Amino acid sequence: MSTFPVTLNVVGCGKLGTTLPRLLKDSGGVRIGGLYSRTVAHAEAARTFIGQGSVVDSLAELPAAELWLVAVSDHAIADTGRQLAALHRDWHEVTVFHASGVHDAGQLSLLATLGARTASLHPAHSFADRDKSLLTFAGTCCALEGEPAAKAQLSALFSLLPVRLFEIETAAKPLYHAATAMASNYLVSLIATSLSLLAKAGIGEQDARALLAPLASQTAANVFARGPAAALTGPIARGDSATVARHLAHLTATAPETLDVYRSLGRATLELASTSGELTPDKVSELAALFAAAASKL
Ligand SMILES: NC(=O)c1ccc[n+]([C@@H]2O[C@H](COP(=O)([O-])OP(=O)(O)OC[C@H]3O[C@@H](n4cnc5c(N)ncnc54)[C@H](OP(=O)(O)O)[C@@H]3O)[C@@H](O)[C@H]2O)c1
Repeated sequence: MSTFPVTLNVVGCGKLGTTLPRLLKDSGGVRIGGLYSRTVAHAEAARTFIGQGSVVDSLAELPAAELWLVAVSDHAIADTGRQLAALHRDWHEVTVFHASGVHDAGQLSLLATLGARTASLHPAHSFADRDKSLLTFAGTCCALEGEPAAKAQLSALFSLLPVRLFEIETAAKPLYHAATAMASNYLVSLIATSLSLLAKAGIGEQDARALLAPLASQTAANVFARGPAAALTGPIARGDSATVARHLAHLTATAPETLDVYRSLGRATLELASTSGELTPDKVSELAALFAAAASKL
């Protein structure tokens, strides 16, 4: 078990690579060693924001450190790991981690063969606004995966913030990341689709947002409080096939570009509604037939 603070080197001073080191420094868990970014100005901006650390011009100039954060874009993690491995440093007793949601610690496998303890730690948090993140990061859920010694060290370090760490199986990371992307990104696309339909219905942008905001927020609150099946209301949950048929007919005529989304999510909603046991098998078949017929028009 480490005694804190440990020295942290940062490779990649973007949104996460600037904010997470500051949070870790403020917690007393790390002192910042070196800061390297492909664009030197980004490492300098990180140095100003964090208030600690030495900016270096190359990976080779980074000082010795017990902990390394590889915070480059997902597509560059493996290559950065290879570049670090080529430096001929002693990686024993050193933990190297990245923060990707979709990739696992295997991206740093060359460093592992050289003795480094490797892990991935994905905070389910948006680092879009770094000042805001300083205030809102506590309590964030973080998915931890990798080698046991690396996980133990990161668990102890991140408990200082504090965050909610949970372990995830290596093979499950892409599924985990697809799930979080759907709940976050697809929710945005779904609301954007609803707004476009409201615009076609003659409702102005501000009114449309005011209309959807409480509806979407209350629905989300109900799902998390009561579970998906209990939170489901509306025509599909009621088995009201006449209403669904009317939706489909009008979408086909006036907004065919939204038909695919309506139909796919309608089928998912029907599957959920049918688990409640309140829909008769006839109603389920009737609604399924409507969605199938709409698919043939696409
Ligand atoms: N942002 C978030 O909310 C968030 C949340 C959870 C996890 N993450 C994870 O955090 C990591 C960093 O994401 P980010 O959002 O902070 O990205 P970002 O703001 O775009 O920063 C990416 C960093 O990677 C560097 N970089 C990009 N391409 C590179 C390449 N080909 N070779 C070397 N360096 C390269 C950039 O260098 P320069 O800018 O210096 O040129 C920059 O320092 C990713 O693994 C991401 O999945 C991000």
